[in-house]
Amino acid sequence: MRAVTVPHPGDAHVLTVTDVAEPAPGDREVLIRVTAAGVNGADLSQRRGHYPSPPGAPPWPGLEVSGEVAGVGAAVTEWTVGDRVCALLPGGGYAEYVTADAGLVLPVPPGVDLVEAAGLPEVVATVWSTVFQLAELRSGETLLVHGGSSGIGSMAIQLGSAFGARVIATAGTPEKTAFSRGLGAEIAVDYKSQDFVEVVKDATDGHGADVVLDIVGGDYLSRDLDALAVGGRIMSIADRSGGTASIDVGLLMRKRARIWGTTLRARPLSERVAIIAAVRENVWPLLETGRVHPVIDSVFPLVDAAQAHLRMESSAHLGKILLQAR
Ligand SMILES: NC(=O)c1ccc[n+]([C@@H]2O[C@H](COP(=O)([O-])OP(=O)(O)OC[C@H]3O[C@@H](n4cnc5c(N)ncnc54)[C@H](OP(=O)(O)O)[C@@H]3O)[C@@H](O)[C@H]2O)c1
Repeated sequence: MRAVTVPHPGDAHVLTVTDVAEPAPGDREVLIRVTAAGVNGADLSQRRGHYPSPPGAPPWPGLEVSGEVAGVGAAVTEWTVGDRVCALLPGGGYAEYVTADAGLVLPVPPGVDLVEAAGLPEVVATVWSTVFQLAELRSGETLLVHGGSSGIGSMAIQLGSAFGARVIATAGTPEKTAFSRGLGAEIAVDYKSQDFVEVVKDATDGHGADVVLDIVGGDYLSRDLDALAVGGRIMSIADRSGGTASIDVGLLMRKRARIWGTTLRARPLSERVAIIAAVRENVWPLLETGRVHPVIDSVFPLVDAAQAHLRMESSAHLGKILLQAR
């Protein structure tokens, strides 16, 4: 089968279509004939040589796919050949076939296109496990989402608003702020021309945001804390603008605030399986009714993975970028 591999770290053009052996499912694994794979920021880091696949996973990128079940391991009872599925992976999605732990597989929700379903597992599992499970966002609270037009942001806005939160998003252009409002953000801040701390305080009569989903890092953490309500929770899931932060510890204490960092792929398999089960229970019904939908920017042929990476690096995209394998 064909896979898109990274022969050596470098720019997007190092991605190479390579013939590799088709994988065979282990006892608790499902073999998926890949229809499409999602492109994620982690794939770009991996390509640059900073975020290798964990042991046991294929060395090529790809954290999520959609497709049809082509085979099952001896201990798999919940999936059968021909099922239309999407799955969270530790790597290896940029290929014509991939194996996934049976507990990380989800049915394609009725009404969702098989290609578009490839853009769901990583963003839904990330947003559910951070904003809802760890930070326990509740109806009526205010959620601040940085990067409202990103893959993660576009799902966080939809889920926050679907579960009754008031959502404020940040984004870098007027087109992206309008896009964020279209997904359910009550207020979208152009962070290049407005101070999100002031906007959040004004919009909440000084209360602040109860939960912040931060994909920026660096100096944003201290500004998140400024914008945070007493008892607020900051979820730090990326360090795009820097891996070190300076925090006013007194303010952290006075606000009884919590700051969490987490990465989905590094969590033990049992935790990822539990997240997928919770996602199926809580988010899948919203996808089935259309209340929440995959937000797809563009679909590239698998063999044009370099073009897909260049588009993500341009930051011009709105929502998810996908690779179509067939
Ligand atoms: N920890 C985890 O478990 C986990 C899981 C999944 C993803 N992630 C990380 O989360 C991040 C988002 O992932 P993604 O797939 O959604 O990436 P993406 O679609 O490429 O989005 C990145 C976004 O960051 C925005 N951005 C950059 N600087 C910003 C700033 N100062 N304020 C507001 N927005 C800013 C960009 O929008 P503008 O052009 O508007 O700036 C861009 O839309 C990535 O870094 C990814 O690695 C972490």
